[in-house]
Amino acid sequence: MAVIAFVSPKGGVGKTTAALLLAGEIADQGGKVCIIDADPNQPLMAWSEMPGRPENITVVNCRSENDIGDLIEAGEESANFVLVDLEGAATATVTFAIGMSDLVIIPCKGSHLDAQQAARAILLVRGAARSSRRSIDHAILFTQLPPALRSINYSDIEAQFSHNEVPVLPVPVYNREAYRTMFSTGGTLHTLDVKGVGNIKAAKENSAAYAAAVIDRLRQQSEQETAA
Ligand SMILES: Nc1ncnc2c1ncn2[C@@H]1O[C@H](COP(=O)(O)OP(=O)(O)OP(=O)(O)O)[C@@H](O)[C@H]1O
Ligand SMILES: [Mg+2]
Repeated sequence: MAVIAFVSPKGGVGKTTAALLLAGEIADQGGKVCIIDADPNQPLMAWSEMPGRPENITVVNCRSENDIGDLIEAGEESANFVLVDLEGAATATVTFAIGMSDLVIIPCKGSHLDAQQAARAILLVRGAARSSRRSIDHAILFTQLPPALRSINYSDIEAQFSHNEVPVLPVPVYNREAYRTMFSTGGTLHTLDVKGVGNIKAAKENSAAYAAAVIDRLRQQSEQETAA
């Protein structure tokens, strides 16, 4: 059982996409996932109303900061993973969700402007950790990278994060058409009607590797807690 929040004050970095990819991988392996859609635009509520949602993914709507705590606790009761998709802003809901998370994933596109916003997200996590008097694991997830090229910007930013001891997930989420298609047709990578969707095989490999990196991070965390 783990609570994972997707956080960045910057809009459009790939929070919702990363949340749905992870949900799809966990569900494909038989795990139960509760997604809390805490974005007022409700992209995942809209997704859940389209065909193709696996039965072991439920999506619930969070309408106010007063509800987020109850929804996370209820999700922990009913599912193996609670994924919280947050809006691209620093709101009370975001702070409360961070405070209740086992892992905060901070999606970041490979530009300097995005890295600055990711740094703001890290400050939010550190603030929430301080106010709850515990450490909150967090990691940058590079998103929407071009699959073929390793951009100079990205390598440079990665080096800066590493220099500042900011954890980075070892697998980026590449820019793939299949990831956009999930939101236009419904379903996950594993339930998509793949006709006409470009390079679904590579998308599936990338998505599985990303999910494995997240699960591995949670595993390491629980091993450290057991050893402490
Ligand atoms: N890895 C990816 N490959 C292809 N398209 C992507 C990828 N990640 C995100 N996108 C597209 O970029 C746009 C923004 O992505 P998404 O909605 O996931 O970002 P967000 O951080 O949740 O945005 P917001 O802050 O508005 O909630 C969407 O059109 C989405 O389909
Ligand atoms: Mg979103």
